Amino acid sequence: MNARILDGAAVAAAIRERVAGQVHELAARGVSPRLEVILVGDDPASRVYVAAKGKACLQVGIRSGTHNLPAGAGGDELAALIAALNADPDVDGILLQMPLPKPLDGRAFLDLIDPARDVDGFHPTNVGLLHQGRPAFVPCTPAGIVELLDRSGVALTGARAVVLGRSEIVGKPMAALLLARHATVTMCHSRTADLAAVCREADVLVAAAGKPALVTVAHVKPGAAVIDVGVNRVDDAALVARLYPGDAERQGQLAKRGYTLVGDVDFTAVAAVAGAITPVPGGVGPLTIAGLLQNTVTAARRRRGL
Ligand code: GUN
Repeated sequence: MNARILDGAAVAAAIRERVAGQVHELAARGVSPRLEVILVGDDPASRVYVAAKGKACLQVGIRSGTHNLPAGAGGDELAALIAALNADPDVDGILLQMPLPKPLDGRAFLDLIDPARDVDGFHPTNVGLLHQGRPAFVPCTPAGIVELLDRSGVALTGARAVVLGRSEIVGKPMAALLLARHATVTMCHSRTADLAAVCREADVLVAAAGKPALVTVAHVKPGAAVIDVGVNRVDDAALVARLYPGDAERQGQLAKRGYTLVGDVDFTAVAAVAGAITPVPGGVGPLTIAGLLQNTVTAARRRRGL
């Protein structure tokens, strides 16, 4: 392996420590930040994420609560819950876990969240501000990635950056943040012609397409920084053996849990040519929750003019 491993877990720990300090400072002013999380349905991955968010809040001293609505909950019930949280002055952050079960339209409900408490940065007001270059609440994963790149010494000004994937949660805000940092940004997606050639232009490649091991050595310029946002559950033993040859821990995990988490990047092969790379797990994942904690404290401060 040539590539330097970008340690998202270490950067996330540093962010959490900073946030814990800010919570402490707020406590001295009688302010105790509070996050409320809404989970609709029983998607297993969402359950894991929501539990992790609650635990992380506890660890840095942020109060948090979870509201579980059944998969068959009506839109009226969800809208009423969001309205009640918006009306509660003690609530600093409101997070609606995505995706919502069908037929609920996630975007329609994200639009109902008070932008001043939209700690995900998904409300159109916050999306618009980000694209105007005057960010309010920035989506947690891309914000964490920029902090990881900065702390790892990866230059962005003048760099060619390619973002693979155009989701509202990662791809689009990622591109806006890189542009704000003076990178030359290209967005590509499943219908991009000659995807490998476009990706090979990148000094900084962010893979957020949701396809296991889509990014191969053919997509990576030697020396590039490769950020892997993918979290794909893979249960195909032959694929896992090909992607992680000789990795007994992965094989064991697959046998025990029935799946292993694989990123959007063919890690073993790409690490041989990239200059820097994030692993899955332990790369980008921990940064998302760290960003959420930061946004919650920021919301608590701003709402009080602090
Ligand atoms: N689903 C996957 N990632 C996220 C996230 O960052 N926020 C919310 N609300 N839902 C998600």
